[in-house]
Amino acid sequence: MTEVDRADYEEWRYQESLPDERNQLEHAFRLLETYSGIPHDEVEEHVRVLRDKAWAVFPYPCIGRWRFLNIYLASTPYYPEILQTLKGESGVFIDVGCCFGQVLRQLVVDGVPSPKLVGIDLRPEFFELGYELFRDQDRPPAKFVAADLLSGEGGDELNGTASIVHAASVFHLFGWEDQVKLGVRVTKLFRPEGEAVVFGRQVGNYEPKELEEHTSLGLKRYFHNPETWQKLWDEVGNLTGSKWKVDATMIDWVLGTKMNRPGIRFAVRRQ
Ligand SMILES: C[S@@+](CC[C@H](N)C(=O)[O-])C[C@H]1O[C@@H](n2cnc3c(N)ncnc32)[C@H](O)[C@@H]1O
Repeated sequence: MTEVDRADYEEWRYQESLPDERNQLEHAFRLLETYSGIPHDEVEEHVRVLRDKAWAVFPYPCIGRWRFLNIYLASTPYYPEILQTLKGESGVFIDVGCCFGQVLRQLVVDGVPSPKLVGIDLRPEFFELGYELFRDQDRPPAKFVAADLLSGEGGDELNGTASIVHAASVFHLFGWEDQVKLGVRVTKLFRPEGEAVVFGRQVGNYEPKELEEHTSLGLKRYFHNPETWQKLWDEVGNLTGSKWKVDATMIDWVLGTKMNRPGIRFAVRRQ
């Protein structure tokens, strides 16, 4: 990143005020009022306080730019399938890099039993902040497990348990090789038989560079289009003796004036 890019990035990644497009926040605000019992006129102040506490733990743009309040999964065409799977005789839903665990709360409200829900994160401080945000310490919505999915430290007890993994804004934190490692770790979470799908979204790129060029330019994070995302999962499949089919769509993801990037929303299904 040049100095100018860096300045734009710094300005972009922390947005002081709540987004104007409040319709993107409607699921989260409804949860905070109805599930958490926070009075309507206190919700904004409450999320401001919690956002800044989380920002102090680690300054991810998804925190600085309020993206954790956009429970996008509930508005995707995948959501009815997710609910149906979890209400049947399936394995668990594991939210990898769950941060506050907002998606897990939405699933509880939509009728998924808590024993079917798990959140994994590198930073357990986010679990505590999730309880504070949603005021549900006395009725945990899910099991929360601290683990480093990249180094493989922790979370082994979850291996072989999942039908669905949710991975939002996680793979894009890393370069190609680390994404392969993360993909391999994720495949171990699934039950050996039956449905196995990774749902999620992340920052994308309509024209990612060839991997060789990407590496030789010293670029770090790899942002995908559907073709490169399939390539990555082919590599994960080769390393794990499994086969994965990507269904992905580039989405408009208005990320700010100077840092506009598309997003990519996906389902990656074991064949
Ligand atoms: C950008 S945030 C996305 C949070 C959430 N999925 C969302 O969409 O709002 C990335 C999350 O991944 C977690 N994370 C980063 N590296 C990780 C790792 N190696 N293992 C497990 N979690 C990790 C971070 O702590 C953070 O909570």
